[in-house]
Amino acid sequence: MSETASIILNGSSYEFPVVTGTENEKAVDISKLRDQSGYITLDPGFKNTGAAKSAITFLDGETGILRYRGYPIEQLAEKSTFLEVAYLLIYGDLPTKAVLEQFRTDIKSQMMIHEDMKNFFAGFPSKSHPMGQLSCLVGALSAFYPESLDPNPTPEEEDKTIINLLAKMPTIVSWIQKKSLGHPVVYPKTNLGYIDNFLNMIFGEVNQDKTFDPVVIDAMHKLLILHADHEQNCSTSTVRIVGSSNANLYASVSAGINALWGPLHGGANQAVIEMLEAIKNDGGDAEKYLAKAKDKNDPFRLMGFGHRVYKNFDPRAKIIKKACDDILEKLGVNDPVLDIAKKLEEAALNDQYFIDRKLYPNVDFYSGIIYRALGFNSEMFTVLFALGRLPGWIAQWKEMRENKEPIGRPRQVYTGQTERNYVEITQR
Ligand code: ACO
Repeated sequence: MSETASIILNGSSYEFPVVTGTENEKAVDISKLRDQSGYITLDPGFKNTGAAKSAITFLDGETGILRYRGYPIEQLAEKSTFLEVAYLLIYGDLPTKAVLEQFRTDIKSQMMIHEDMKNFFAGFPSKSHPMGQLSCLVGALSAFYPESLDPNPTPEEEDKTIINLLAKMPTIVSWIQKKSLGHPVVYPKTNLGYIDNFLNMIFGEVNQDKTFDPVVIDAMHKLLILHADHEQNCSTSTVRIVGSSNANLYASVSAGINALWGPLHGGANQAVIEMLEAIKNDGGDAEKYLAKAKDKNDPFRLMGFGHRVYKNFDPRAKIIKKACDDILEKLGVNDPVLDIAKKLEEAALNDQYFIDRKLYPNVDFYSGIIYRALGFNSEMFTVLFALGRLPGWIAQWKEMRENKEPIGRPRQVYTGQTERNYVEITQR
């Protein structure tokens, strides 16, 4: 017999089906609650609300498990490539060698952006934040590819838009970096791999015979893979909800980029480095900043700490912390903020406030230190997060459409004035 749940409201009992996921997660399906009873549920921040059935990413915050399409994040981060993971997330299974090769070739053929888009770069003030530029430029792609506006594309047309976005994003990201430095942009090169080409566009022309340090390439794959999806987080939910109105993929992802920008979400990686720098410049006293984070009258929070769903450890942070040590050592970089980060982490993990609230380092705590060692400035960190998250956003947008999900439209409990009459104080 299938499981059900009863809700008693004002003396009447209502029965609802229980939905069970493949990992035995349980949810009460209350989609008919209002129709039957007139009541809605109230859950600010959606702390307890499942917005979708999804087959893309599984995570268990209590035990620190994260899997993409069933594959453990540890295995993918160690061995896979970013494009292979992108394919896995978007299309559901790992590609064969031949399919991956075709996927790479398709992406390489679309890496150029329309030359007119250069005008956007010229128009932004030189100090404008890279995330603001990124959301504008990704949204603007819809103007250059109006066929993407069709709300009912064929699978082939939809694939074209997906490939287009995956291919053009590294070009856009690298040109934003070049603009911030006042350097000329570097055009994509089809004879280089996805990451090599990206690094070439970021750091300037490399000699055709040379490649980038394998340590740097490996680090980029790892970081992008670790950020590639994270089920129904703030930016992904934004992408799904914007897409649910049949908005095109570029517009939906552009909205996701804006959601990611906030320091409570992807913007934390920039905020962490700035916080560590501030602590260093203030004498390196970790305890002083822990006390500030615990003080409810002080808005300061320990950036890169805490997570809505991870209540034990963030498996991505575990991999990144180790990678951070390895990469800095291999590159011979000695960054004093790494010591401060470790001191802060140790102090926090032994502090009752953080223990009671199950606050652990998240993916953003150490990622900025790696990005910095690779040569990126801190304002680019969240843009790099967006580059990594892109396949996840695309996969979630595609799944939402394939599941024919209804337009996202939460309800509310109104707490404002009841009806009152307008009294005229001036003439029109
Ligand atoms: N520093 C100090 N206290 C914290 C922190 C922190 N970083 N995070 C949570 N807390 C405290 C809260 O004050 C609250 O305390 P209380 O119960 O005494 O009121 C308790 O822990 C629970 O915190 P909430 O804010 O209710 O948890 P929520 O799930 O809503 O927020 C979030 C999660 C936004 C990640 C939060 O932990 C935070 O602000 N962290 C710092 C920013 C950050 O690193 N964000 C990146 C997250 S990962 C990502 O998005 C990619």
